[in-house]
Amino acid sequence: MDKMQGETVRLDRVHNRLLIIDQTKLPNQKLILELHTLEKMVLAIQTLQVRGAPAIGVAAAIGLSVLAGESTETDVEKFKAEFSENARRLENARPTAVNLAWAVGQMCAVVKENNNATVPVLKDLLYQKAQELHDRDIAVCRAIGENGAPLLKNCKRVLTHCNAGRLATVKYGTALAPIYIAKEQGHSLSVYADETRPLLQGARLTAYELCEAGIDTTVLCDNMASYVMGKGLVDAVLVGCDRVAANGDTANKIGTSGLAVLASFYHIPFYVCAPFSTIDLNAQSGKDIPIEMRDGEEIRSLWYQKPLLPENAKTLNPAFDITPHKLITAFITEKGVLQPKDFSVV
Ligand code: MRU
Repeated sequence: MDKMQGETVRLDRVHNRLLIIDQTKLPNQKLILELHTLEKMVLAIQTLQVRGAPAIGVAAAIGLSVLAGESTETDVEKFKAEFSENARRLENARPTAVNLAWAVGQMCAVVKENNNATVPVLKDLLYQKAQELHDRDIAVCRAIGENGAPLLKNCKRVLTHCNAGRLATVKYGTALAPIYIAKEQGHSLSVYADETRPLLQGARLTAYELCEAGIDTTVLCDNMASYVMGKGLVDAVLVGCDRVAANGDTANKIGTSGLAVLASFYHIPFYVCAPFSTIDLNAQSGKDIPIEMRDGEEIRSLWYQKPLLPENAKTLNPAFDITPHKLITAFITEKGVLQPKDFSVV
């Protein structure tokens, strides 16, 4: 039987392991990693073996429960100190996706709220919470799909950026969930997937999972979006997000803001698909969202037999950019299709 059961991130309670699909190996190899050490979990998040805001949040939560289960500490205060250090390291593995901090915070609350619990009880509660966050992600993404599918009723072709599909969550995805649900309902859409330089999440991952699901997929180089939009070939843009500020400014994969500018120019609806856990009401605007800067080698040499750039050329490698809220038609969430003014009232 498929160990992952169609999911991207799972808890193997029997062997006490965090299971992930190694996304650096896709689409050529489906390798399942079974993790039980902090170092490997942090590395998996930083090197994008597991990636996508909801998926790294669930992976960190399951990781914390596995690490608690591995602990040989019997003194409850020392156990809690060990847990806090694991939580700090996992939370700091990547800075932009607020789901990571949110999920770690949910796990920390379990320890805080059960102050008098023994070590075995805490271990059990942490497993339960991690499983709950895993199951919740599936339900939330399905609801995003159900809320988004009606918006695509009159659409034939949508464009997406990066990977905000099932590989970026436990199952279903965010931006791709409305496409999966529409298909279930008998409405098949065609998808343009931006390749998404420099790490090619669109070309490698979005194309992989959509083709696997039997959805008509065309991969575009990132600089081709204006061409297809200008020809009238795109009816809607759907993207995911890593953090949404209170005013609706949205951090997502580098290149998203450029697409939003193009969509506005060509009068194409631009939807951001967002679990509520990605909305950070503590960030007033995009200025308050930290942007991860990554190693220039991802641009210089990662995909090439020899370095692509002249030796003295510098690189700039921001992993995310901010799309101003005024370019976003609506946010498709598990609570409905919303505008930023609704965030604090629904
Ligand atoms: O650097 P990545 O691959 O983790 O970036 C992922 C994205 O930007 C996704 O669009 C975002 O996390 C939403 S995933 C549902």
